[in-house]
Amino acid sequence: MDVIETVVVAFWAMLPAYVPNNAAVLFGGGRPIDGGRTWGDSRLLGDGKTWRGTAGGTATGVALALGLNAVRPTATDALAVSVPEFPIVAAVTLAAGAMVGDVTASFVKRRSGRERGAAFPGLDQLDFVVGALVPTAILAPSWFGKTFTVPVLAVVLVITPLLHVGTNVVAYYLGLKDEPW
Ligand code: CTP
Ligand code: MG
Repeated sequence: MDVIETVVVAFWAMLPAYVPNNAAVLFGGGRPIDGGRTWGDSRLLGDGKTWRGTAGGTATGVALALGLNAVRPTATDALAVSVPEFPIVAAVTLAAGAMVGDVTASFVKRRSGRERGAAFPGLDQLDFVVGALVPTAILAPSWFGKTFTVPVLAVVLVITPLLHVGTNVVAYYLGLKDEPW
């Protein structure tokens, strides 16, 4: 694979993990997952992690993976790159795992005294990558091994923070998010 191919495969394979976080912003609201409970002086997770946002984000990611499967033959021709097809298990682990990673990061942020919306550089950009990839590697190991080669993983680690910062700045200026991170 050349560099362009590696970037295209990395982006394609990660799309079902990228979109849930952004979709959660649109679906968010209603009952928080922690039901308002606290641990020590802070909320367990906070009002920024809701059932609706998590379910809507996960469903959007899974639907996107199925949509990408449907357009894969066309995309493979158009891009001249053989992009991966998502097994249903991987569609679910990528999307749900990204949401779980984000929720876990909120738990860590609250324990470290950060209020809802506070930035935690590094964690904010990579929580959902770890959350998406670890369960995928465990539950769809052969697909994971074929798709996420070492060069693809290296590209994921470089492009993800850039895309995350970029989309959040856009969402902030569109008035969808309260903070640009
Ligand atoms: N959101 C949600 N459920 C999730 C993730 C996000 O409802 N599991 C919605 C919330 O409305 C949230 C917004 O998307 O406020 C932005 O998400 P994020 O930046 O992850 O949350 P924050 O409000 O910044 O909270 P935290 O500090 O806990 O990350
Ligand atoms: Mg935030």
